[in-house]
Amino acid sequence: MIKRDGAQTSLWQGNIQSYIPTGKADRHAKYDVVIIGGGITGVTTGLLLQEAGKKCLLVEAEELGFGTTGGTTAHLNTLLDTPYYVIAQNFGEEHAKHVAQATAEALNLIRSNVTRFNIDCGFQEASAYLYAQDADQEKELEKIRKSAEDAGLNIGYVQEIPVNMHYTKAIRAAGQAKFNPLEYIQGIAQAFEAAGGVILQQTRVINVTEDDSMKVATTAGIFSTTDVVYATHIPPGINLLHLRCAPYRSYAMAVTLEDEAYPYDLSYDLYDPYHYYRTQIVNGQYYLIAGGEDHKTGTQENTDQCFRQLEAHVRKHFKVKEVAYKWSSQYYEPTDGLPYIGYLPGYEDHVFVASGFGGNGMTYGTVSAQLLKCIIMKETPVLEKLFDPNRIKPVAGFTNFVTHNTDVIKEFFGKLFSADELKQLADLAPGEGKLVTYRDRKVALYRNEEGKLHALNPTCTHMKCDVKWNQSERSWDCPCHGARYNYDGKVITGPADADLEGLALS
Ligand code: FES
Repeated sequence: MIKRDGAQTSLWQGNIQSYIPTGKADRHAKYDVVIIGGGITGVTTGLLLQEAGKKCLLVEAEELGFGTTGGTTAHLNTLLDTPYYVIAQNFGEEHAKHVAQATAEALNLIRSNVTRFNIDCGFQEASAYLYAQDADQEKELEKIRKSAEDAGLNIGYVQEIPVNMHYTKAIRAAGQAKFNPLEYIQGIAQAFEAAGGVILQQTRVINVTEDDSMKVATTAGIFSTTDVVYATHIPPGINLLHLRCAPYRSYAMAVTLEDEAYPYDLSYDLYDPYHYYRTQIVNGQYYLIAGGEDHKTGTQENTDQCFRQLEAHVRKHFKVKEVAYKWSSQYYEPTDGLPYIGYLPGYEDHVFVASGFGGNGMTYGTVSAQLLKCIIMKETPVLEKLFDPNRIKPVAGFTNFVTHNTDVIKEFFGKLFSADELKQLADLAPGEGKLVTYRDRKVALYRNEEGKLHALNPTCTHMKCDVKWNQSERSWDCPCHGARYNYDGKVITGPADADLEGLALS
């Protein structure tokens, strides 16, 4: 099993061993590109650049797939979460076609990689079914169908859907797919290393500075490079992108069924947030994967309730034998509906980013790799302007900087807190966390299964919002830009670089 950024175990991480890199990073060499982040974006970008002749180093703070790639439900779509009519409204009809082409090419790259590198990742072609359940949804469905067809998708009305749900109208988009994301990225990582790339896991980037070349300071030493790619889901430091990407949590479960009603294809309803269903065979076992109940990070008081609601919904429509896995994961919604891929705002050269994938991370992560490879190889791709992170207007008075914000906030430093008083105040069950006010200050408290109390300063080390407790993943989540910390304050998801301040208890 590999580690992931939460207490729950996803179907993917529970059925795979950690990736063991074969190469060794050379601190005296100069790299062409250092890629930070070992999810689908990072490993695919690394492979494409390495094969194009660049000397690449991939640095991952934990292990490959630790972040959202290990918690995705791995739908491979050209029928996107942002409907094509929204893309056409915001960017024009021609660009809506470009997005459809780019996502189709991304799926083609995944297909070809699976064949070329013989990656055993359960990849299967599939169709996506979208269904309306009332008259208002029918209108929305037609808008989605028409604009997707105009953008070039093979899509049309159908009489049947793969799941046993009430519906009034339904459409089917061909040319979609599904796979096991961790088996896929481990296969890509192997191909990357075979092409000469180097992977460093359990290595955190402390800082990136620009001198005569870029210097990437890490917990394993300093590396020189020409270019840096932040494939970290959201860039660290303080950046305009943090104001343009909203963090969301999404809930998923993998269940076994009493009968054979596993839907082969991908199905989605039209609620907001929507529910979705698909099947994946892992180690010979069929699993129905269902998801939904999304909410903005740090805004749900009781995250266990999200799982209960999802489970109740699944049990209403399927004969569930066992809930084998349940997990949640994070994604970032871009404000205008398209991801930000290209030069990091504030940089005209050498520092790149890919972020704001919404619920289409596997597809857009691959689009990002293709686009970043072209930009770095100076191939001036057509899509560069469309996905340009600098398309967003600057905010007056906002300065971009990428300096990693490693200063721990020490508002409480030097104070001693009474464990007994805090314990009485919070009345915590084992495994529970809570924000309490103690002597006019907020304190983030967690009581572990053995009864030991962990007390933290709840001020997020990124930009000082207060974190909120996520009961189901046992993490402290920041509602502002999505940073997440373990129960003991250790940072597990950026953009924060530094841990929450621990408080001394008497
Ligand atoms: Fe930005 Fe917490 S993630 S303030």
